[in-house]
Amino acid sequence: GWNMESVVDEEIKLINGTVAPEDHVICALSGGVDSTVAATLVHKAIGDRLHCIFVDNGLLRYKERERVMETFERDLHLPVTCVDASEQFLSKLKGVVDPEMKRKIIGREFISIFDAFAHDLEQKLGKKPGYLVQGTLYPDVIESCPPPGSGRSHSHTIKSHHNVGGLPKDMKLRLIEPLKLLFKDEVRQLGRILNVPEGFLKRHPFPGPGLAVRVLGDVTEGNALDILRQVDEIFIQSIKDAGLYDSIWQAFAVFLPVRSVGVQGDQRTHSHVVALRAVTSQDGMTADWYYFEHKFLNDVARKICNGVRGVNRVVQDITSKPPSTIEWE
Ligand code: XMP
Repeated sequence: GWNMESVVDEEIKLINGTVAPEDHVICALSGGVDSTVAATLVHKAIGDRLHCIFVDNGLLRYKERERVMETFERDLHLPVTCVDASEQFLSKLKGVVDPEMKRKIIGREFISIFDAFAHDLEQKLGKKPGYLVQGTLYPDVIESCPPPGSGRSHSHTIKSHHNVGGLPKDMKLRLIEPLKLLFKDEVRQLGRILNVPEGFLKRHPFPGPGLAVRVLGDVTEGNALDILRQVDEIFIQSIKDAGLYDSIWQAFAVFLPVRSVGVQGDQRTHSHVVALRAVTSQDGMTADWYYFEHKFLNDVARKICNGVRGVNRVVQDITSKPPSTIEWE
């Protein structure tokens, strides 16, 4: 492996050699490890000439906005503008049930918000920001052929995925990709050196379209998002309490647009069904469903039905990938 301390020094030199002293840089934070580490590195190099944005699209998990903003501000001192665009996203998603259509709409809204942010900044600074930071990793960059002289071999599994977002059209931003020669485990090492909290570095992956692909069908229907957030939080917290979080690649709940009959107290109920999904994986390309002990599942199901109004049935997803995908949409 590489000496990560020296990677930090070299990257900072490189960034300062690229970005002129009067230039400004923008970065969209997703709340994930890669964009956070990339921004922290750039911030260390150029200070508050970095301008980050975090968008609450109304599709985030329970207390996600508060949690990541606390890490950005309190732990990392990143200059972040938090934009609450929940209503904008949700109004555009009303009535939409096709998963790819959801992704397209979310991507489009994100670009429009990012565009507005860049233009506001241009007004404020009296000049256009010159660069955009992206948390692109090595596996995102290569298809089959590593950049010459990178010293990288093919020994790691290669993944292609959909993490690469769109860019503002008329901005002509140049890219800064400080992680583009690194693998995920190396990004975590880098994050550790940069004081990104350990719990943050070990977070499970989360899809860009967020809970929109975990509420099947119309995400704006009833209080589906609110129910899903509560169920997901109980499930994840139980996994953490049981010490299982780091053994799992990804775990989450899915809201199903169906109702089933139940009995709670002496009341007959006709309420929602939620599904629990947990998988192990190396790279997300293939995955195995995770085996929980009987008692764990029993306790979680009980906690969910007792704790979340409107849910009377919990099922577990026991398919691997393939034939299923990790997400349900
Ligand atoms: P699937 O569901 O295809 O997911 O087995 C593989 C990995 O990718 C994540 N995923 C996404 N990530 N935008 C993203 O940034 C997306 O549209 C998206 N769809 C799936 C998924 O959570 C898993 O980690």
